Amino acid sequence: MILLGLLLLGTLHISTALDNGLARTPPMGWLNWERYRCNTDCKNDPYNCISADLFLEMAKLMKYEGYADVGYEYINIDDCWMLRDRGADGKLVSNPELFPEGIPALADAIHSMGLKIGIYEDYGTKTCGGYPGTKDHIEDDVNLFASWGIDSLKLDGCYCNASEFSTGFPAVGAALNATGRPVLYSCEWPLYEYRETDKIPYAEIAETCNLWRNTEDVQDSWASVERIIEWFGDNAGNLASYAGPGNWNDPDMLIIGDYGLSFEQSETQMAMWAMMAAPLYMSNDLRTLRQWQKDILMNQEVIAVDQDPMGKQGVRVYQDAKKKHEYWSRELADGSYAVVMYRRDSSGLPKPYTATFKQLLIKTKTAHVRDLFTHLDLGVYTDGITATLPPSGSCKMFKVTPIKSQF
Ligand code: GLA
Repeated sequence: MILLGLLLLGTLHISTALDNGLARTPPMGWLNWERYRCNTDCKNDPYNCISADLFLEMAKLMKYEGYADVGYEYINIDDCWMLRDRGADGKLVSNPELFPEGIPALADAIHSMGLKIGIYEDYGTKTCGGYPGTKDHIEDDVNLFASWGIDSLKLDGCYCNASEFSTGFPAVGAALNATGRPVLYSCEWPLYEYRETDKIPYAEIAETCNLWRNTEDVQDSWASVERIIEWFGDNAGNLASYAGPGNWNDPDMLIIGDYGLSFEQSETQMAMWAMMAAPLYMSNDLRTLRQWQKDILMNQEVIAVDQDPMGKQGVRVYQDAKKKHEYWSRELADGSYAVVMYRRDSSGLPKPYTATFKQLLIKTKTAHVRDLFTHLDLGVYTDGITATLPPSGSCKMFKVTPIKSQF
């Protein structure tokens, strides 16, 4: 009886009232914000403005360069897609200079490639970029999105008080449910109070949203990615229990392929996002990626960790006192573990580090170890893993399969 109870407890998960059946594994795709921001200047910068052409181009590359084959699916439009004022009928209007044929035509084109389309709004009176917010128009706006064929909504929290979030985000969620269209719901609910994690009602958030942005906006730098990993490391113990099929913590976009990350740091972002069971939304220029960047973004063994069907979020299990290196561990559905050994400091030579299985919370004496970036089986290891890490944000990522016969 006790055993049965424990088993049930182990599989119990805070379920979503959103009830859209989506995001059983973390969503994957592309989101324009980090790379293209609010660039609406198609006259002077046609190549980089946030036009239908840009989204279509990214959709085509996602489809035909292999990203879709490894799981990338959503093409997401962020802020600044609309006109500064609602139409005479009160409806939101897409900027005709950006979307000359309107959003439904873009949605059709994206759907015809077998992909999905996401859009952005804000619960407040205005979006962060100053465009009309959804307050007082929730049903109309959500119905409009559903009629356009939108598959995902990112809802922001600018221009309103965080005290309104507990009613606002669920109200939009309920309106989405009422459309009958399954729309993935991404909430920026925790973000605005992230320095006071205790105040954030994560259980409530998980009942309403498929994913939620926990902390600061990612910027195009290693410092930014490092800070986000640090924040998740500090808080993962509290947050991980809210993640699972249908619900995900969101550390923000992948910036691999942009200007800020070295080869090693790019591997580290990919590895850590997979450990965190994070949504994998690239914000980059798929037209200009180098082969090594594509290889990292399409590394199927790392993606398999992110997309593990059990959906148990990994946690930081060890950090040295000076915060120069740390280890993360994530339990996988098949009884194995994903492990990351990550070195942060920038002083000097590549050095060997040892993570014991005990530190990694893996109860075994021996295990098969596979390197998920070199794709090599390293053989059977006893007691732990020793790996050489170069400085400045590098990592090694392993799949560790305990050898059970000894127990
Ligand atoms: C906030 C969000 C970003 C982006 C911008 C748009 O900063 O956190 O992800 O959506 O607004 O203005």
